[in-house]
Amino acid sequence: MTSTRTRISKAVIPAAGLGTRFLPATKATPKEMLPVVDKPAIQYVVEEAVAAGLSDVLMVTGRNKRPLEDHFDRNHELEQALRRKGDDDRLERVQESSALANIHYVRQGDPKGLGHAVLCAAPHVGDQPFAVLLGDDLIDPRDPLLTRMTQIREERGGSVVALMEVEPASIHLYGCAAVAPAGDEDVVKVLDLVEKPDTADAPSNLAIIGRYLLDPAVFDVLARTEPGRGGEIQLTDALQTLAADRSLGGPVHGVVFRGRRYDTGDRGDYLRAIVRLACEREDLGPEFRAWLREFVREEMRADTAGTDGGGPGGSRPGLEPVMQGAAGL
Ligand code: UTP
Repeated sequence: MTSTRTRISKAVIPAAGLGTRFLPATKATPKEMLPVVDKPAIQYVVEEAVAAGLSDVLMVTGRNKRPLEDHFDRNHELEQALRRKGDDDRLERVQESSALANIHYVRQGDPKGLGHAVLCAAPHVGDQPFAVLLGDDLIDPRDPLLTRMTQIREERGGSVVALMEVEPASIHLYGCAAVAPAGDEDVVKVLDLVEKPDTADAPSNLAIIGRYLLDPAVFDVLARTEPGRGGEIQLTDALQTLAADRSLGGPVHGVVFRGRRYDTGDRGDYLRAIVRLACEREDLGPEFRAWLREFVREEMRADTAGTDGGGPGGSRPGLEPVMQGAAGL
């Protein structure tokens, strides 16, 4: 186990998954490049890493890696065109992504699972603790999860995962943790982990979400980890081995996150992320919120008109989450 004083400076961002939930949009474009308002999802993730002091970023890319690399590279032709037009605002925004961090790339030849993607980072990371941020998992910048996780790692060593309470009926979509109290109200000791359990077998309703601070011992464990659920090498399985035997890489703790988080690889969550972030934007927010309020009013009127839901103006069961979100606007 590395010292608790070793500062983490490297972030690994896996972005090589197939993104099947978002087909056909992700047929030729990585899902991490789908725009959330006017920035690709992955730019928010890199910004979060940089804000937490992680300026060395390794992206694990797969097929269709070109759009990712191009986005974080300079585009001289575009910059010149904007300069000629005197469009300084857009010029600045275009340059932002290429100046954000020191970005490196490694290729995951076959998408053999998240654990395998993380293992591809071993030569770059070396024998240092490091962070993993999933490229399709968006944490609101006002809820600084990574900072809290870093604090816990500095206090307790080993590895730290991010957990979130979910509805028991949804736990089969996540890795799930069996935990014990660990002193702080938002911190637990991880005793066991199960990838995507059935609700009946789940040890808790605490789901692993896409932020990890890992001891480098995880690489040895991953190299020995057999394909698990879905035939993929699962990061959850390697973390389960670490949690079961703390002599390998120290303990595994979980920070229970209660802030705002969006899985942009899920179509519903992706839409919620766009609505919420657009509402909060100074430039777009006021007009968009006014439109949204009117839209919700119309939908509510249509609902109370009591039509049967079959045709236009009928009840729209899928709208509830948007309406709840809009209530606080
Ligand atoms: P997901 O579990 O969301 O899988 O991956 P996926 O294949 O990308 O998406 P769906 O389920 O088919 O829609 C979680 C994260 O791990 C990365 C993904 O890019 C995503 O950021 N990943 C997953 C890899 O980098 N490599 C893999 O082999 C699998």
